[in-house]
Amino acid sequence: MNQSQYDAVIIGGGAAGLSLALHLAENASIAVITKDRLREGATYYAQGGISAVLDAKDSIESHIEDTRRAGAGLCDPQVVRYTVEHGREAIDWLVQCGVDFTRETRPDGSTDFHLTREGGHSHRRVLHAADATGKAIQNTLVAQLKRHPNVDVLENHIAIDLITSAKLGQPDHTCLGCYVLDKVKQQVLTLSSRFTVLATGGAGKVYLYTSNPDVSTGDGIAMAWRAGCRVANMEFVQFHPTCLYHPKAKSFLITEALRGEGALLKLPDGTRFMPKFHAQAELAPRDIVARAIDHEMKRLGLDCVYLDISHQPADFIRNHFPTVYTRCLEFGIDITREPIPVVPAAHYTCGGVVTDMCGQTDLAGLYGIGETAFTGLHGANRMASNSLLECLVFAKAAAEDIAARLQQPYQPPALPLWDASRVTQSPEEIVIAHDWDELRRVMWDYVGIVRTDKRLQRALARIRILQKEIDEYYASHTVNNDSLELRNLVLVAELIVRSAINRKESRGLHYTRDHPAPDDSNLHNTILVPEIKSLR
Ligand code: FAD
Ligand code: SIN
Repeated sequence: MNQSQYDAVIIGGGAAGLSLALHLAENASIAVITKDRLREGATYYAQGGISAVLDAKDSIESHIEDTRRAGAGLCDPQVVRYTVEHGREAIDWLVQCGVDFTRETRPDGSTDFHLTREGGHSHRRVLHAADATGKAIQNTLVAQLKRHPNVDVLENHIAIDLITSAKLGQPDHTCLGCYVLDKVKQQVLTLSSRFTVLATGGAGKVYLYTSNPDVSTGDGIAMAWRAGCRVANMEFVQFHPTCLYHPKAKSFLITEALRGEGALLKLPDGTRFMPKFHAQAELAPRDIVARAIDHEMKRLGLDCVYLDISHQPADFIRNHFPTVYTRCLEFGIDITREPIPVVPAAHYTCGGVVTDMCGQTDLAGLYGIGETAFTGLHGANRMASNSLLECLVFAKAAAEDIAARLQQPYQPPALPLWDASRVTQSPEEIVIAHDWDELRRVMWDYVGIVRTDKRLQRALARIRILQKEIDEYYASHTVNNDSLELRNLVLVAELIVRSAINRKESRGLHYTRDHPAPDDSNLHNTILVPEIKSLR
């Protein structure tokens, strides 16, 4: 009973995983695995929106140029063009699925989508469902998925590791499935699948302060690395400039769309500071705004800065930003009357598992899509609202590739069951709790918005010690959610720090005081190659 066979196992139920499942569901038996409830992932919390060229005054070329400018020289031009050109198709599909994007009434009485602005975009091109775009997308896709008899949804199941032919001692290098812990029954299942898709989201939880939900622990990146896949550009961690600063507010983002609609960043005395850092002021790309805030906080010894939209009409604020308005009010902040205390926090993992234009990784049978993947779209800095777009565009591309390959004959191999004969129940969990806190603090203090060679070396030394401790713990104790996540987080932390050490320049999201200028003579992605390199 602990073994099942599917055409495709999709690990992750956010925008990427659900879209892929829906595109494939007519023609394949599918399992969608999520380690928490199905809604729980970054997608559900996305606020600002999804970018696409819909306005007559906008153009594909302009979206491409903005994306590449934000990406600071490292975007893959082919991937950028492909993604942007498929923007309208992705929006049409979402609308067809039932996503109710916010509309506006034109002077002639007709209605069309309301397009908002965010940092780096030179046009209004962000579709949104008020300020809860992710919730609208997630809920719609989940509702669609539940209608499909071909899809098994396994909630509260955490994927542990991929099963590869190499690990079974076979000569070819193929992904054959995965081991998954049923967190309720505390049983490990063996899932055999012709295709396995990593749609596990980002790794923001590796930092002490993050906008990300608890599930964003970089599991897909860690699993792919252990299975022999290359990982790229992990040094480019995006810090969102404006998360709510309040002792009781865990990970609450204040959407960049507020700045798109005129909100200003201010010091405690009410003066603006962004104009002195960039011509686009509050709408400069995110790396610049986050660094400016960090600079002002350190210069003046502040706990936070302030984001002020109170000059806009109260009705406009409540209609456009109901989520932010309501949440802030719960903490006693009326954003129609007063500024919001904000700080930067880790937000988006630009690096990830190296994939091609169809989402294929280095390992045959293994795909990576969404925030887990490195497609080359974002370069050294992701432009706002390009992430949901990437999830949708590459989910479709991967689905088409998988559907074509499913036509070929396949004989599923016999897979070994999970072996728990050499482990025991841990007598205490304090090691996990301690290492978890220490790791996230080390990353925040030494591998944050502003880096130095010395801080990175310090971080690596600490991470290596933690890694040894965590690996020993994993090898001798029964697996559980926390130990699995921590094992992945410490590996992702190592990959981030090693990548950051390798980059001897400042570019996009990677800023180091020891090499403060970009080195255009040495333009490169940081590609890390694991020891067990796949042969494909
Ligand atoms: P997620 O939506 O994060 O889903 C990951 C899934 O993987 C979850 O179902 C999780 O349970 C599952 N999972 C992870 N590990 C395992 C495992 N080991 N086993 C089983 N399941 C696993 N981007 C935009 O473009 N526009 C926005 O407005 C925007 N706003 C944002 C606001 C916030 C607060 C945050 C955090 C991000 C925002 N982003 C935005 C970024 C964007 O939301 C994410 O990049 C995107 O939603 C990622 O989608 P995904 O499907 O790759 O992963
Ligand atoms: C936001 O709403 O500010 C987040 C947008 C994004 O991360 O793309």
